[in-house]
Amino acid sequence: MMNFGDKLQDHVFSTVAAVCHELNVKIYVIGGFVRDLLLDRTSKDVDFVVVGSGITVAKKIAGAFGHGVHASYFKNFGTAMIRVGGWDLEFVGARRESYRRNSRKPIVEDGSFSDDQRRRDFTINAMSLSLQAKDYGQLYDPFNGLEDLKNKLIRTPLDPDITFSDDPLRMMRAIRFATQLDFSIEVNTFNAIKRNKNRITIVSPERITDELNKIILSDKPSRGFKILDETGLLAIIFPKFTELKGVEIINGQAHKDNFYHTLQVLDNLAEKSDNLWLRWAALLHDIAKPVTKRYEKGIGWTFHAHEFIGAKMVPGIFRQMKLPMNDRMRYVQNLVQLHLRPIALAQEIVTDSAIRRLLYEAGDDVDDLMQLCEADITSKNDAKVRQYLMNFQKVREKLKEVEEKDRIRNWQPPVSGEVIMETFGIKPSKLVGIIKTVIREAILDGKIKNNFEEAYRFMLEEGKKQGLTVKKIVENPEGKLN
Ligand code: CTP
Repeated sequence: MMNFGDKLQDHVFSTVAAVCHELNVKIYVIGGFVRDLLLDRTSKDVDFVVVGSGITVAKKIAGAFGHGVHASYFKNFGTAMIRVGGWDLEFVGARRESYRRNSRKPIVEDGSFSDDQRRRDFTINAMSLSLQAKDYGQLYDPFNGLEDLKNKLIRTPLDPDITFSDDPLRMMRAIRFATQLDFSIEVNTFNAIKRNKNRITIVSPERITDELNKIILSDKPSRGFKILDETGLLAIIFPKFTELKGVEIINGQAHKDNFYHTLQVLDNLAEKSDNLWLRWAALLHDIAKPVTKRYEKGIGWTFHAHEFIGAKMVPGIFRQMKLPMNDRMRYVQNLVQLHLRPIALAQEIVTDSAIRRLLYEAGDDVDDLMQLCEADITSKNDAKVRQYLMNFQKVREKLKEVEEKDRIRNWQPPVSGEVIMETFGIKPSKLVGIIKTVIREAILDGKIKNNFEEAYRFMLEEGKKQGLTVKKIVENPEGKLN
């Protein structure tokens, strides 16, 4: 019998144990906390299983933690939560679950402690530690989770067809844990995912995406995507992504496999950034390659405008996957659209105006864009990689230099719509927008300087061209010369 009492010395556990002792109720720590503790990973999220009512016990425990600590209840689920000193404690009564065909919602009945272990998703998540005085810290591991932990295996405690058919989200969880922990999925469990893959359609897109995001946020996301693909789940939950797969050869010319290329880009980026949305941009940067692919005689494979078409596809993908339709979506869209620009800048003799334009269009996202472009280098040829990185370094320096000089990031042209309207005595209209754009373009192209005086003079000329007459000369509203 293994005992891990030495790892349950925190005041939180002794308090819970003392209350339950007094109530004569059996309580165990179970699930992810035990798994992580045995893997030497620290966590402050703890699940407790109580042989009795989780809610009644949690009320008493909250009281024992003292003033200001409360338990919140979810009566429908029979669970209770306590937040104390940075810990999230969740209490649930031991239960038995049975499932109907078309729902993830189980019929729940009170059960024994071992019923509760049996209803868990994986052997490594079914391990429990006792908090009873007589065997404090003893490991209860009926399905050899410890062995699987040592062998780095994800396996279901019961017949995997039952576990996955009952709650198909567990198929995503299996792959997510395999990715996060760098484990393999035991072969019967793996084959059961293949067999039950279509059951995933009864799970809400939000939950699927939640697991997918955890895979994307792991150290090496490609691991998860490859398993998702091998099991057939990816084609169901994210079909557009599987369309990137494959290599075509015409006249002996092959293009790269954009599926594996994209996964490599994502892995490269994961080494540098934890930003979920930047990782999404990596996933989607070449998403329009399948629809733009052409073989052109004398040129070879082309993917014209895949960055623009890819950017247009982003909202649809976000909507389908229930990702937020807000500034995060627009950030991903912008990066997808701009992802070739730094490459273009690295190849030609770069003009200040090209740099200014990129700074203007990328705004604050310009550093993330450079990270994405660097991750996009997946050549196996070291000399080429070094050359590309050096070119990007030059682009970065040039960006810095032009930004220091011209301050284009988050820039607004120095002549506003109000000034245009006041000068020509006109109301808000399309014409105001046209004049504003012409001024902005002239500054970005370097035709005029980025200051009020030059922009205003330019505006007067432009207004005349548009048939407007000057009604009033307006002073620089900033009240100072640029
Ligand atoms: N569980 C389950 N089936 C699910 C979800 C959860 O059997 N679909 C059980 C597992 O025993 C799991 C525990 O409930 O360990 C807690 O679930 P959760 O907090 O979602 O996961 P953790 O295992 O704690 O892992 P993480 O915090 O990394 O998500």
